Amino acid sequence: MLLSLRLFVAAACLAGAVLPGCGDDGAGTGAGAGPGDGGAGGAPPDLPPLPAVEGLTSLEDLNEDPTIVEVDLVAQATSIALQSGEPTAMLGYNGLVPGPLLHARIGDRVIVHFTNALDEPTTIHWHGLRISDQMDGSPMIQSPVQPGETFTYDFIVPDAGTFWYHTHLHQIEQLERGLYGAIVVHETEFPVFSTERIFVADDIRLTAQNQVSSFLTSGPDIGMGRVGNTLLVDGVEAPMPLSIPRGAIERWRFVSANNALSYGLRFRGADVRVIGTDGGLLPSAFSLADVEDGRVEIAAGQRYDFEVRSQADATEVVIEALILVADAEGNVSEEPFELVVAAVDGEVEAEEPVYPVVTLPPTDVAPSESLEWALSGGVVAGQVEFTINGESVFVGDNHEHVIIDTFEPNVPVAITIRSNVSPAHPFHVHGQFFQIIERGGQPVFEPGLRDTVHVRGAESATILSYFENPGRWMVHCHISEHAENGMMADIVVGQPSAHEH
Ligand code: C2O
Ligand code: CU
Repeated sequence: MLLSLRLFVAAACLAGAVLPGCGDDGAGTGAGAGPGDGGAGGAPPDLPPLPAVEGLTSLEDLNEDPTIVEVDLVAQATSIALQSGEPTAMLGYNGLVPGPLLHARIGDRVIVHFTNALDEPTTIHWHGLRISDQMDGSPMIQSPVQPGETFTYDFIVPDAGTFWYHTHLHQIEQLERGLYGAIVVHETEFPVFSTERIFVADDIRLTAQNQVSSFLTSGPDIGMGRVGNTLLVDGVEAPMPLSIPRGAIERWRFVSANNALSYGLRFRGADVRVIGTDGGLLPSAFSLADVEDGRVEIAAGQRYDFEVRSQADATEVVIEALILVADAEGNVSEEPFELVVAAVDGEVEAEEPVYPVVTLPPTDVAPSESLEWALSGGVVAGQVEFTINGESVFVGDNHEHVIIDTFEPNVPVAITIRSNVSPAHPFHVHGQFFQIIERGGQPVFEPGLRDTVHVRGAESATILSYFENPGRWMVHCHISEHAENGMMADIVVGQPSAHEH
């Protein structure tokens, strides 16, 4: 699906045009074209094998110990066949876009032997995993892995859920070119489904020759973040074809690896419950039929887990992305795009999945501290610069992140994140979970643990976190152009651990 006439619009810019490229002229460029339920430790011998997760190739576990997942991962140039014509030159992990699935069980030790076969440095960030900051891929802590060099990431996965991994260096290009993959960590007593599937969604901007179009250093790509003209699901052009048997009860895990694009997600032909968010299963699932417009919003970096059953008379089950698009005159409207089309085919009998009991940290507490992070930007010496609390970091191979706050571990803190200029910012906190408690000062129904909150232009979002994981952690907008032009800082939880720079 090549959308050469209608281009996606980052929702961001609708609130008004303050930054260059976020105005009328901006809308249309486009290049030619859960909390842990168990710690580490020996797994009981009677643990059932992990269920298959369909959609991505799984990394081969090289270690016989059932509690250790040991894998090889190589970042390298590759190509994929996206549209008829030329293959598309990409970067990938183990030659795949998305990279292979890292599949583990809560409490497992994960050892990743990583080789950088790119011709530029890189690091890997394990987005959403509350691991040690030494293994988190922050270029402020880890010396980037140089071309031809290796690094061993070694950590214990403390939480079950749907996560992802991606480059954390030169992310504007490396992420767009394909350096991302998915992680599934299963609960100790996981609910059993007819089938589990994972969908990693991305938008990519291709030229008429099927190549990743060139990267601009000013204009709307920087002001709003680069959006694509082609939607991918698990590296396949949308809509991805599938089939689902009548009677099946499936777990569909959805990851947004989009750079800047945020959208609504809606289903046709299925009864769907939201069972999980960024940080794992919800204490109680909710039906999409019970929420406004029957949809959830997903921003760059976020995840949802859905329980999906086809409706009695449906012939297909469809996931639609509701995306803002602009026509040639700049009129913006929201339109549905099919991401996944599953034909209802065959019939099975399924048992009801049994969900484990999940308890989230309380949000009805008086926070011990309330503070604000102001997201802003402006033009400095002709360049757009993005800031958090007025600070912008220098981004090069040696990231120098300003520490904007220091927290005591395990104490509830409310943070109001406010965007002072029009772009929206999907704001990510490394190494911690939080809950979204208010928008614009009003309570919201957005249950579940998050590591990324969509801060819409001109609307504040208030999060509550207990900052449970000590270390030095990056906080940044997940739009690469915003982060790498300054909207990236660090926080410290407890005592800062040693770092190299
Ligand atoms: Cu997925 Cu620092 O981000
Ligand atoms: Cu941003």
